[in-house]
Formats: sequence, structure tokens, C-alpha cells
Amino acid sequence: QEVYVLNGPNLNRLGRRQPEIYGHTTHADLAKLLTGWGKDYGLQVRFQQTNHEGQMIDWLNNAADWGWPVVLNAAAWTHYSYAIFDACAQLTAPLVEVHISAPSKRPEEFRHTSVVTPHAAKVIEGEGIDGYRQALEFIAAQ
Ligand code: DQA
Repeated sequence: QEVYVLNGPNLNRLGRRQPEIYGHTTHADLAKLLTGWGKDYGLQVRFQQTNHEGQMIDWLNNAADWGWPVVLNAAAWTHYSYAIFDACAQLTAPLVEVHISAPSKRPEEFRHTSVVTPHAAKVIEGEGIDGYRQALEFIAAQ
């Protein structure tokens, strides 16, 4: 079973980006962890990150066409992108929304809305990098 793990804007800078919020694991570390967890759960993880919204839409459209489950951390797009909302609406396999921090508990009001949640089978937030593992565990159990 192939599964997309898709990361949105600024997550390329994981480990260097506000480590007090997002931790010290780098994006390259996360790539290795995901491969290992994929093996554990019998999933072929296709891990991608982009700072460009159109690229993210293209991957979500692929997932819709191919029937792949998606683990999505849409980062800031989560909070305002109706194009991401529309792309998520087309998915047929399970979608898991992941956030490293807990946006719903952060002080900025704009983080309290998610366009992804209405389409998500599960939302995992505030679990750090382990949230991605939990998302794969959930998908493997479907
Ligand atoms: C994030 C939370 C978002 O509010 C923020 O814009 C991000 C990362 C997270 O993983 O905690 O870029 O999705």
C-alpha cells in the first residue's frame, strides 16, 4: 500500500525553524523515520514537501486519481487555502491531518481554523514528530 506524506510551506526548515515549537528533528531526519515506520506498518511512504501551493494541489490530485491515503501537514495553508480544501474534498482513501504543534491551542487566532479537518478521518496535533508515526499507524489499521 502506497501512502503520501505531504508537508507544506516552511516545513523544509524543520529542526532550524522555531525549534522551541517544532523541535530539533530535521526534514532529512523525518524522511528516514518515515521510511522506517513505513516498513514497520507495511506501507510504501512517498514523502514530499513543497513551498508552492500548486505543487501541493498536484500531489493531492494524484492521490485522488490513484486512491492513495494521505498524511497531510498543510502548515499555514491549513488555515486559509480553499484550493487545499477543494483538493482534500476529492480524496477517496483516508486523509489524516497532522500538525507538529497544536494549532488549536496556540495564541494566534488564525491557527484555530482548518480547511483540512472537514475532510480528515483523523486529526493529530501537538504530538511532535511522533504524530506522523501515529498517522501511518492509523492508515495501516484501515
Ligand atoms: C503546523 C502548524 C501551523 O499553524 C503552522 O502554520 C505550520 C506548522 C504544525 O505542524 O504545527 O507551519 O502545521
